[in-house]
Amino acid sequence: MKTKKIFLSEKETPTRWYNVVADMPNKPLPPLHPGTKQPVGPADLEPIFPMELIKQEVTAEQYVEIPEEVQDIYKLWRPTPLVRAYGLEKVLDTPAKIYYKYEGVSPSGSHKPNTAVPQAYYNKMQGVKRIATETGAGQWGTALSFACAQFGLECEVYMVRISYDQKPYRKIMMNAFGAEVYASPSDRTNAGRSILAQDPASSGSLGIAISEAVERAVSDEHTKYSLGSVLNHVLMHQTIIGQEAIKQMEYAGDFPDVVIAPLGGGSNFAGISFPFLQYKLLGKRDVRCVAVEPASCPKLTKGVFMYDFGDTAGYTPLLPMYTLGHNFRPASIHAGGLRYHGASVICSQLLKDGLIEAVALQQLECFKAGLVFSKAEGIIPAPEATHAIAQVIREADQAKKEGKERTILFNLCGHGYVDMQAYADYMEGKLSDHNLTEAELTANLKELQPLQPS
Ligand SMILES: Cc1ncc(COP(=O)(O)O)c(C=O)c1O
Repeated sequence: MKTKKIFLSEKETPTRWYNVVADMPNKPLPPLHPGTKQPVGPADLEPIFPMELIKQEVTAEQYVEIPEEVQDIYKLWRPTPLVRAYGLEKVLDTPAKIYYKYEGVSPSGSHKPNTAVPQAYYNKMQGVKRIATETGAGQWGTALSFACAQFGLECEVYMVRISYDQKPYRKIMMNAFGAEVYASPSDRTNAGRSILAQDPASSGSLGIAISEAVERAVSDEHTKYSLGSVLNHVLMHQTIIGQEAIKQMEYAGDFPDVVIAPLGGGSNFAGISFPFLQYKLLGKRDVRCVAVEPASCPKLTKGVFMYDFGDTAGYTPLLPMYTLGHNFRPASIHAGGLRYHGASVICSQLLKDGLIEAVALQQLECFKAGLVFSKAEGIIPAPEATHAIAQVIREADQAKKEGKERTILFNLCGHGYVDMQAYADYMEGKLSDHNLTEAELTANLKELQPLQPS
């Protein structure tokens, strides 16, 4: 009889996070202070992050122990299942073997609680009262709201206006976990007010919402800021996904030829792929790691590798990354979590060094893939996750053309049950592809030149 799902016992869950920086041939360049253009030190970050997370951000250690309190909360949904997608393989009539790691079983329905819980924990340990954050699709805000509830922290969420309007149930989920939620841009911060003054109907962006949340943290001593992606420590927390998947693939007697995940800021991609990438970096096994971004926000495939701000107002340190410019306003596609102008520093460096790959896909192909998957496997994926599925289908079709077996692993990083409006719009023919013009692509890049170190 065929095995469909591969489970681990709670005892087999990894007890350490993996830090890929330790094994990278070229280490990431340091973040810079925008004024001095000197590398930022812990003191620069202290107003917004607790010290333990600042230490993790710069650590060179290969592994970091997961605190026992965090491991206990992880047990609410971890270990997550690894599933062999027999149904999808059949529909695609492919010789490829397809596996997916399902992170939609978490309390908020995505991979995001893997970092929300430790972030809330370290804030609590430092005596912080409130955490402010941004959210795009609503997934991150829900995850942090849940994590704050676990530790009795207050949570203040700036939700990108377009998602706030499209996804009312996400807001209600956050409220149910006890969080306050504001549509961004809001009139609660200088950053929000200045955007609203230029464009009262602004649909917002992750960059703007980050500015608002950071501003709240720096202007209140009891409030810290928390980011759901991009930063080194966030990516590291997510590596619990790939470490579990390695053990599960071992039980299945397999190892992937290719690991695929969508990329917004880089955390779920890092989470599933970095533990496998370690095999390649240490010269043990070859594996392709493919990040999939939306064609309407193609920082990895069409952006430039430069120092840029992580937010729109320019409050964050300058990060060396692939970017479309911090003022880039992505089209209002439904995969809200992928509408970010930059990519994590680590993912950017790995791409620059040719150690990972990137592709950009249009949303119609992705939603079509999402429905193929829903019918074949019975789970309706988050719009972000459909980007991985569309690439999986391309790889499986390629294997069929070549008549070759290949083992594909992807991260089903979230379910789409709170994203049904997106599917309604797709099925009613209301969505379209978005081809960026050269002018749109380059418009914001000119502003980056003065930000580079001299
Ligand atoms: C379900 C889902 N997948 C992917 C992403 C993209 O973010 P990241 O690249 O950090 O995983 C998001 C972000 O909100 C998300 O909600």
